[in-house]
Amino acid sequence: ADIINISGKQKVAAQIAEKVTDGDTLGIGSGSTVYLALIAIAERIKTEKLNVKGIPTSIEISMFCAKLGIPLTTLFENKPDWLFDGADEVDTNKSLIKGRGGAAFKEKLLISSCPKNYIIVDESKLVTRLGTNFPIPIEVFPQALLYVEQQLKKLGANSIVVRPAKGKDGPIISENDNLILDCRFDEVGSSLEKDIKAITGVIESGLFIGYPLEILVAGNN
Ligand code: A5P
Repeated sequence: ADIINISGKQKVAAQIAEKVTDGDTLGIGSGSTVYLALIAIAERIKTEKLNVKGIPTSIEISMFCAKLGIPLTTLFENKPDWLFDGADEVDTNKSLIKGRGGAAFKEKLLISSCPKNYIIVDESKLVTRLGTNFPIPIEVFPQALLYVEQQLKKLGANSIVVRPAKGKDGPIISENDNLILDCRFDEVGSSLEKDIKAITGVIESGLFIGYPLEILVAGNN
């Protein structure tokens, strides 16, 4: 099954690399499908001598771009022409859960800043109901933890886990110095993203409802 997934991801990654044109500023999401796209893009930059810049959503993507020789810029200096990113779940309305990698805030900031967004997934990401396989990550200002937990329960959260760090004791600290709560809800309704965001202390959630996205699914355009 892993091999099937890898080849699926590779197909959508190649489709993304074909879309790159000289002079583009690209918004670059996070995750393994994005990695594969970056390898293919770096190859085109090298062989076709393309002038392309990327705006990254996470430190690991910045490091990977540096390694591949893809020049980077920031949202201060440039506006992305288009963006590509992965997702953890995609439902039939093109709504998403993202943020497994802990970068949902910057991913949402970039998607909001960008006129054209491609989401690249294999079929394993397609669900009929959001929350089937993944919890919703919510980035929270640390001192707001208890208050936010209380408010999330009122919104129907039935499980709230402060994401633990790997290779270090205690919770994970995001790139923005915040905690990440992985939350499951009784129901993911159309107003849940806004209701979560309205809680003081919440920076962002990994719920994307009603964004203008083009979903590229491996083997099924
Ligand atoms: C990162 O925070 C997520 O939103 C990723 O986009 C998501 O986890 C996709 O990763 P894969 O491409 O590795 O499945």
